[in-house]
Amino acid sequence: MSEVSEHQDEILTLLRRSPGEYVSGRFLAESLGLKRESVYHTISQLRQFGYQIESDRRLGYIYRTAPDLLIASEIREGLKTKLFAKRVVSYRTLGSTNDVAKQLADSGAPEGTLIVAEEQTKGRGRLGRSWHSPPKCGLYFTLILRPPIPPAKAPALSICAALVVVDSLRELFGIQVFTKWPNDVLINRKKVCGILTELVTRGNGVDSVIVGVGMNVNNHREDFPKDLRKTATSLAIELGEEVSRLEVLRRFLLEFERDYLRFSNSGLAPFRNHYRECSAVLGRSVKIRCGDKLLSGIAEDIDEEGSLILKKGRRRLFLPGGEITHFENSF
Ligand code: BTN
Repeated sequence: MSEVSEHQDEILTLLRRSPGEYVSGRFLAESLGLKRESVYHTISQLRQFGYQIESDRRLGYIYRTAPDLLIASEIREGLKTKLFAKRVVSYRTLGSTNDVAKQLADSGAPEGTLIVAEEQTKGRGRLGRSWHSPPKCGLYFTLILRPPIPPAKAPALSICAALVVVDSLRELFGIQVFTKWPNDVLINRKKVCGILTELVTRGNGVDSVIVGVGMNVNNHREDFPKDLRKTATSLAIELGEEVSRLEVLRRFLLEFERDYLRFSNSGLAPFRNHYRECSAVLGRSVKIRCGDKLLSGIAEDIDEEGSLILKKGRRRLFLPGGEITHFENSF
């Protein structure tokens, strides 16, 4: 994908340092060792990306707004993470960010590397499904993590990630957001976000955990295929207005980094109470598809590995995976 070049990035940095003020073309040229024409040309290129930069013949240039572009310089703008998104690989279009993440992880990419795309042509979901990933309106990204935990603990990381999505959306937009076990995120009982976590092992240990997040952000109803319209929603549909994907992504990255470090040290235990509070299904009667079996019972709790504890009469089943196909109305 077209990334902002080094000169473009430097000019943006200088303009952003003086919010609401004009910066002269001469100052920009001298600071960066460029000719004035080159500054003019670079600013025209930035405008083509969607940056709003106004100019005045006497005063110079004034920075107004940035486009909602998922590129490294925008994602990192004001992002206070120490580990996540220090390296960002962004694409206009690609098959699946999880697939690219696996290749990069295999060739030694550092922990926290973020792969992000404006569009996916082979977006993958859980249970062998596809993930509808049209251009511009959604967030499709993957983080490469290398937690010092045994492989059996890794799947619970997606529960932790789902909780961070819930918290980020509640904080940013003040809306009612819930999880549906294991890691779907729902608004008004419809899915707004899904998480696909994949484990790469080396010997008996974890080499990397690939955490892929797909979120419907600015999709309108007609952007979804007909068969998804009953079960999927987007932030724009629920809020009645479009929102900044960058803002959502940055908030997620900051909060997930904090919770990831906690998870790496203490596992799921510190998050279980909060998961219970944020769950649309715990304590409710549910129907679950597990492989080719259909089970029903009360979704009692999750255990420390993230398995669902399903109460069936006097028996309890511990389900490491599956899909809740129906749950009692709770809100
Ligand atoms: C689900 O089925 O709920 C999980 C969906 C996960 C989709 C995301 S989009 C970014 C990343 N790349 C993929 O191919 N899948 C995940």
